[in-house]
Amino acid sequence: MMDIVSSYNEWDHLEEIILGIPDYACIPQDEPAYRSKLDAADLNTFTAGLRKDETIQKARVQFDNLARILEYQCNVKLLRPEKIDYSKSIKTPFFEIENQNCAACPRDTLLVIGNEIIETPMSNRARYFESMAYRKILNDIWEKDKNMLWTNAPKPTMADSMYNLDFPWDDKSKERKDWIESYKYVTNETEPVFDAADVLRLGKDLVVQNSFTTNRKGIEWLRRHTKSRGYRVHEIHFPGDLSPVHIDCSLIPLVPPTNERKGILMNCPERPIAPADKERIFSGSNWEIQSAPMPFTTKIPELCQSSYWLCMNLLLVSPDRAIVEETEIPTINYLESLGIKCLRVPFRDVYGFGGGIHCVTSDIRRRGDRKSYFPNFD
Ligand code: ARG
Repeated sequence: MMDIVSSYNEWDHLEEIILGIPDYACIPQDEPAYRSKLDAADLNTFTAGLRKDETIQKARVQFDNLARILEYQCNVKLLRPEKIDYSKSIKTPFFEIENQNCAACPRDTLLVIGNEIIETPMSNRARYFESMAYRKILNDIWEKDKNMLWTNAPKPTMADSMYNLDFPWDDKSKERKDWIESYKYVTNETEPVFDAADVLRLGKDLVVQNSFTTNRKGIEWLRRHTKSRGYRVHEIHFPGDLSPVHIDCSLIPLVPPTNERKGILMNCPERPIAPADKERIFSGSNWEIQSAPMPFTTKIPELCQSSYWLCMNLLLVSPDRAIVEETEIPTINYLESLGIKCLRVPFRDVYGFGGGIHCVTSDIRRRGDRKSYFPNFD
């Protein structure tokens, strides 16, 4: 009997993956975790609720094209989530909202560590039940794969007490900069929270971004949860990012280390790793950190929740092949100079749904097993 769930890093040969969907996608209602991600200009102008039909249709075309490339060009088995009506309200003992988010970005919700899939706590109210879209998939795999571990991390309350309600919403303000520089965010430390997309999986080492979506308690939860299996969890910060959410537009592994040469990670030039973190994690490691090229354009759709650094949000389907947004020419040229062939897909119509090509996928299985790429921690 073959193991279905097995993925330890971001580059080994991909065999099976979940790809999100745009159906019933909504703009979330105003709430602290959403507000903190918006540009000051958007703060008081957006309308919550179902996205326009036309916007969803356009995104669907690009999703389906990516699906075909994954299936037929890369030979990857594809799973898609269930369609759930996110325009429905939810009410828990601790909060109430008019509508939810979407199932476009499984990378945020499902954390795959080896043979385990963790439904992560999340910290946006609109995303409280997001992992339910993947329950059928998870249940099905769990029945077939006797080695799969299926875990649900502690569900937070998402009550007002979980947030710093005095957070400086204006992302251009000096106060906001001061908060970020002292690693104070919109979520506080009352309950553990983390999103899967804050975790960079590098074999035995998990590099986890402390951010709006992942607090220190969340990182500690992951540390204790994975410790007995020999994982090492490292907290990292990118103080130049005034809306720190998810690591996959800040630090991306491109070339894995071998005995002959160091591996390469690209780091966003506007968000360098905090010097103390860089020293603690990477000095003496098998990694070299290079600066990512600037994006092709700094234009992004309105209410995007992401920045133009989505240009870094690529998916490696094997160590020498990546899927990259077709207009991100500087990224493509850089990758090709490293010997990585790029499959180019149009994906800008999906950016507004919460992310790019990496965000909208979640690994199920990649060939190869767990290794250490950090002799400094062995
Ligand atoms: N915070 C990132 C940026 O704007 C966006 C990350 C999106 N990633 C994701 N997995 N949804 O640069």
